[in-house]
Amino acid sequence: NYLFRIGLVILTFFLGALVPNIGLFISLGWVKSVRKQKGCTFFDLVDGSCPSHLQVIITGTHPTELKPGCSLTVSGSLEKSSHPKQEVDLHAKECRIFASCPLSDGQYPFQPQKQTSLEVAREHLHLRPRTSLFASILRMRHMVTNAFHQWLHDHSFIGIHAPVITSNDCEGAGETFLVRPSSDFLVQEMGNEGSEQDMAYFGHKSYLTVSSQLHLEAAACGLSRVYSLGPAFRAENSQSTRHLSEFWMLELELGFLDELNSLLDLCENLLKDVTKSILESGGDDLNILWTENLETEGHVKALLERSFQRMTFKEAVEILKNKGRGLEVMQPGTLRRVQEMELVSHCGNQPVFITNWPADNKPFYMKWNHEKEAECFDLLTPIVGELVGGSLREDDPQALELRLSQTEKERLKWYVDLRRFGGLPMAGFGLGLERYLMFLLGVKNIKDTIPFPRWPHH
Ligand code: 4AD
Ligand code: MG
Repeated sequence: NYLFRIGLVILTFFLGALVPNIGLFISLGWVKSVRKQKGCTFFDLVDGSCPSHLQVIITGTHPTELKPGCSLTVSGSLEKSSHPKQEVDLHAKECRIFASCPLSDGQYPFQPQKQTSLEVAREHLHLRPRTSLFASILRMRHMVTNAFHQWLHDHSFIGIHAPVITSNDCEGAGETFLVRPSSDFLVQEMGNEGSEQDMAYFGHKSYLTVSSQLHLEAAACGLSRVYSLGPAFRAENSQSTRHLSEFWMLELELGFLDELNSLLDLCENLLKDVTKSILESGGDDLNILWTENLETEGHVKALLERSFQRMTFKEAVEILKNKGRGLEVMQPGTLRRVQEMELVSHCGNQPVFITNWPADNKPFYMKWNHEKEAECFDLLTPIVGELVGGSLREDDPQALELRLSQTEKERLKWYVDLRRFGGLPMAGFGLGLERYLMFLLGVKNIKDTIPFPRWPHH
């Protein structure tokens, strides 16, 4: 009995020590704006996890460094807010500033209390993630990436990590970045500055990958349905708002698929399902970005409503010919951006598949039909134009060899071998992640959809 009473006293003592902390809430973040009123200070705190802020109230004096842009930790009690737009306010008990953000000397380019435009933010890539619009884009990019992975997992695709360094120029367009050791390495290892041969990757000409497709085909030959989501590099000297030197591509490769329409169905289902799931979970970030460009919501929702139209390249050429106004296809087998956008608008601003392009301008791996058309497609959508490119793959080893030069034949022997040992009909496509984000969010410049964009001279 005596011991029990002592125990009770000790327990009461500890509980007593805990009571003042019950309901204590700690938050960390950056101050967006500060408002002072008689006897108290209000400030809005953001931490980047979501677009909303937390209103903090300090009664009495506040730290002198408490200014927009500073970083801090604050603890106090969460209480029901009297503000109609906020559920709770944080009534601060303690506030510790980590660092201030001097604004008056003009060195900091943004005004924390105001929304920074994407154009201004783009001028300061290292500071850009702290601007609210761009933070919304990064959160959406994360959500979209997860949605693609989830869909592919649910549809029995196996994710493959493809190499970044490769000796193949999959698209054959010569838009590759060469990989070579630094000259320091050459001096140490080879005792010279590097001959033509040494300039290559340990004696072999190698590049940063332009597409993971060929490696995915090898993987599909063992796993049937595979995909990769990884970086692709293109040395296109383009300053356009739709091209990056380094972008992320979602590539799917399917074994035992020999019918172009089935590939189109799969592509359409993937886009519809992923877009639908983003509309359901996109929340405030999506709404914030849609208000920046009011047409976007309509385009995105329209994608879910109807089947995507399908037309051959020949039909597209005919439509453009009838439009006149300089829209006629002059360069055989290619479409310019204005022509792509005209076809999208012709289809009621809905996505449209253009299939069966002339084989002459297409990469060696595409399957041809009897009219020497490649069994391939481009998917064109509002805002971006070409969003996806894909094809059936040539499964005849002899047909492939006929299209390859002697050097290519040696280098791509492994690829042709895939057809020699238990070969199978295969098909796949690649979707530019940044271009999908442009479409979904209505972002006009591709550089605003990737954390750190790389483009010529930048
Ligand atoms: O049409 P592309 O070049 O197709 C391929 O690379 C195929 N090997 C893919 C496959 O079948 N596995 O590129 C596919 C997509 C384009 O439709 C476009 O969305 C995007 O990649 N893309 C770019 N995105 C940003 N910047 C660039 N420079 C891009 N080049 C292509
Ligand atoms: Mg293409």
